[in-house]
Parts: sequence; C-alpha cells; structure tokens
Amino acid sequence: MPKGMVIGVALNQRQSDGVDAAAVDIVAKQFNQISPENLLKFQPVHPSEDRYVFEAQDRFVQFGVDRKMQVIGHTLVWHSQTSAWVFQGKDGAAVDRDTLLARMRDHIHTVVGRYKGRIHGWDVVNEAIDEDGSLRKSPWFNAIGEDYVAKAFEFAREADPGAELYYNDFNLEKPAKRAGVIRLVKDLQARGVRIHGIGNQGHWRLETPGISEIEEALVDLRSTGLKVMYTEVDINLLPQAGRGADPAVANPYASGLPDDKQQALARRYAEIFGVFVKHRDAVSRVTFWGLSDADSWLNRGRMNYPLLWDRQRQPKPAFHAVVEVLKRAR
Ligand code: G3I
Repeated sequence: MPKGMVIGVALNQRQSDGVDAAAVDIVAKQFNQISPENLLKFQPVHPSEDRYVFEAQDRFVQFGVDRKMQVIGHTLVWHSQTSAWVFQGKDGAAVDRDTLLARMRDHIHTVVGRYKGRIHGWDVVNEAIDEDGSLRKSPWFNAIGEDYVAKAFEFAREADPGAELYYNDFNLEKPAKRAGVIRLVKDLQARGVRIHGIGNQGHWRLETPGISEIEEALVDLRSTGLKVMYTEVDINLLPQAGRGADPAVANPYASGLPDDKQQALARRYAEIFGVFVKHRDAVSRVTFWGLSDADSWLNRGRMNYPLLWDRQRQPKPAFHAVVEVLKRAR
C-alpha cells in the first residue's frame, strides 16, 4: 500500500457487532480503516429529540479502536436518514432557524463529543450540493439558510478540535457539481472555517465516468489544498432500470457474472487505483462501500457485483488487480 494512503471499508451492523465472523476476519486482515454504512447517521443515533442510541454505535467504534484502525464517522448533517422530528416546529409549523441550529448543535456536540479522540474524521456535511452546483434546497438549507454548512463545521470543531472534518458528495466528475463543491469549500476557507478534506464518494459504473474525468476531478479537487478521499467506492454493473422493466434486462447476471464482465471489472478497478496511486500525495484514503457483493446496497432486489469479494467471500479478480497496483506503488 502506498505510504500514507489508508484503505478502508464500510461495515454493516452484523459486521461491527462481530456476528458475521467471516467478514470480520477479512476486514481485520485487509483494511486499516472503517466507516459505518448506516449506524452513525442522524436517524439511527438520534431517533427522537430526547433520545440518543449508542449501543451498536459504540461497538462499531470499539471494533476499529481494538484493531488500531482509523475510524471514520458518517455522517452528521444530511437531508436523508434524518428523523422527521428534526425539521418539525411547534403546532405543525416548519422549524425555525434558531431551533434547528440548536438541534444541530446538540446532535453534533453529543455524537462527536462521545467519540472524541477515537473517531479520526467526520463527514460533517453530506451531499449539500445539487447537480447544477447550487446549494441543495434541503430542509437544513430551507430553515437555516446558506450558512448551515459553516455552522455544522463550527459545531464539529468545538466538539472535537482534534478530529478531521470533511465535506462529502457524489458525482464530482460532473463539472458543474464539482465547481459548486469547490465554491462551497473555498467559501468555508474564506470564512476561516476549519475543513480538512473533500470526500468524493466514488459510486461509479463500469464505463462511466471515464478515467480521464476521474483524474480531472481529482486534480481540480486537490487544487483546494485539501486532502481528497474516495469515501464510498463501488462499481455498479447493472443497467439503470425503471420499475416494471423486463427482469432479463434489469437483472442480467441473476445466475452469475460472465467472465468477460469479471475481467472488465478488474481492469476498471486497476485503472482507477492507477489514478489514485499516481496522485498519492493528495489521496489520503480510499474506502469501499461494503465488503462483499452480498453486502452491497447496490443489489436492491437484483444481483450486483460491485466490490472486491464475491458472495462466498472469495476475493475476485478485481481484488487481485487492486493489490497488484498498490504493491507496485510501494
Ligand atoms: O433501519 C431500518 C431497519 O430498522 C430495518 O430493519 C431495515 C429493513 O429493511 O431497514 C432499515 O433501514 C435501511 C438502512 O439502509 C439499514 O439497512 C433503509 O431502509 C435503507 O434505505 C438504508 O439504505 C442505506 C442508504 O444509504 C440510505 O440512504 C444503505 O444501506 C447505505 O449503503 C446508503 O449509503 C449512502 C451513503 O450513506 C451516502 N452516499 C450514498 C450511499 C448510497 O446510497
């Protein structure tokens, strides 16, 4: 592994609870960083105003601490997986700015504060930019206004001044969206808000985005002077299929992945890691969004093959391809 580049994986609860022993074994041997796939999102951790839930969350953090892995927190402020009460005001009205800021502060202080010194870095704000580069009109934006992102970073810094703080988003290979993210980050920097890195999720497909678009995005993002992280990497092999699509078209690999696709996936991963390694001075971390194909959110009722281990938890050609690229870079 190139010096300084951390390689991680998102864990589901069966893994961080230690129930899925086969997965735990692979994670412990092959990775030095973990992210929680769902556990530390707002809804699971803070389901009602006066109730925080920390049991499984504590086990997740301890999983990493025990194994001396870098533990990442995902995510504090997002429009999705946030409990409905957060955005409700009195008597059915929409929440006002001050109330929502107070709720945000309490949430961030409680969650970040609890894991102070143990969680290395936080995705403070997730997916705040729309495809056209403007700030997404999320419930956070609607109630607080455009400074909600800066506020979230300020609260996180107060709660753990030693933690790294990241902005995380997807589709950053699209120039308009990337420009919006870079504007946001520069605005935070101009306000003196502390931010350490940009997370590019890296939910990609076999053919798109092109490798030159991936590299161009990386070069652009690193020009902010911040660390660049690939925080949720996977390669979707299935067609975009709408409801009611013919199953043979929507789910073409239901009985297995043909060898040519398997090899194409390995080549795609090798190419992508080639870019990461070429820019290793800027890329501080790469995290896969799940361990094996059986664990991936991309299945959703179909059979997808986006990751480095197969459903039997055997390493795929893509695993060996990634290892080769990383070995050569050492
Ligand atoms: O919490 C309930 C649980 O109580 C219930 O037993 C279970 C039954 O289906 O559902 C559980 O919630 C599901 C949750 O995953 C935990 O399994 C949600 O319905 C489901 O929507 C949720 O999906 C997650 C998704 O984020 C939600 O937006 C995926 O696992 C997770 O991989 C995905 O991750 C996101 C990143 O956080 C941000 N970037 C995009 C990425 C992919 O969508």
